[in-house]
Amino acid sequence: MQKDNTASQRQTKRLERLADQGVYRKSLLVHQDCTKVFEHIKPYFANPKNIDELKRLADTLLLAKPINVSKVRQISPFRYPGGKTWLVPEIRKWIFDLDYRPTLFIEPFAGGGITSLSVAIEDLADRVIVAEIDPDVASVWKTILAEPGILCRKILTFDVTKENVTNVIHSEPDNITDKAFKTIVKNRTQRGGIIAPGASLVKSGENGKGLKSRWYPETLVRRIRTIYEFKHKIEFYEGDAFDIIDQYKFEKYAVFFIDPPYTAGGKKAGKRLYRFNYIDHEKLFAVMGQIMGKFIMTYDDSEEVVEMAKKYDLMVSKVPMKNAHHDVKFELLIKKSD
Ligand SMILES: C[S@@+](CC[C@H](N)C(=O)[O-])C[C@H]1O[C@@H](n2cnc3c(N)ncnc32)[C@H](O)[C@@H]1O
Repeated sequence: MQKDNTASQRQTKRLERLADQGVYRKSLLVHQDCTKVFEHIKPYFANPKNIDELKRLADTLLLAKPINVSKVRQISPFRYPGGKTWLVPEIRKWIFDLDYRPTLFIEPFAGGGITSLSVAIEDLADRVIVAEIDPDVASVWKTILAEPGILCRKILTFDVTKENVTNVIHSEPDNITDKAFKTIVKNRTQRGGIIAPGASLVKSGENGKGLKSRWYPETLVRRIRTIYEFKHKIEFYEGDAFDIIDQYKFEKYAVFFIDPPYTAGGKKAGKRLYRFNYIDHEKLFAVMGQIMGKFIMTYDDSEEVVEMAKKYDLMVSKVPMKNAHHDVKFELLIKKSD
């Protein structure tokens, strides 16, 4: 008995000594098929010198398995073109891995803002700031965070016929709630959720259900109500992303998620998706290279982007994502160099 006590005291002392060196005991689940390889790589985790090799290994594993979006609660009222639901698990992990809790999570190019909403609802930062320059998109955010009651009623009672949809789309709202409602109708009934000028109505839609195929009134209202419940945590700013970045550039514990329209190098893809699609990408890289806080910036995988990242001494990695046609393609994640 005495001997056991001594052994366990020795073990406690040993763990304390290791903790002083930054080494902690962690438990994890291992499948029997992976046991051998796990035993093989286990010793490498205790030595911080192996961090780069381990990161490379993690990247390789990540490439083998596109991110699982099923663990993301769909909470945005938008079906946003270029939306980043698929990236939420990655952003979540990035925040967990920081050695501090962010005071602010800032998304200067908000769109449907699924990432910001997830951060707010999962309480991953003290406060969330979303910014968007498109007044139509802004009207939805502003209405939801202020007084969404009438908007919810309009959604619940709307009869989705071609005539009604066309009337709403061609209406000229004179108040913010009607503008928000028009934006939601466009977003739900136009192809790919595109609300920019030139988008057309969906034809057959999901299961041939036509215009109704993406109109889920109860779900929409539930999402709106949930966002409203978190309004104390979310601040919306209608305006230019550069202003909001500038305002918080000296905040050490603010983190930024930067997801601009993908139009670097004159690319057309991002142009038809958004009414506001012109960005001075070079300026964005220069500004982000100077901010005090941390950030993740996303871009399409292109040479121009990699070059700009190099020029401003930023780190680039690739993440796999499935596009609307279920093909796996890669996007770039850009961060501050360590
Ligand atoms: C790629 S989308 C963002 C998608 C968003 N991350 C999501 O998950 O839904 C880019 C957004 O930036 C907006 N935008 C374009 N220029 C902007 C600017 N100068 N300031 C703020 N927002 C801007 C566009 O209107 C568009 O909604």
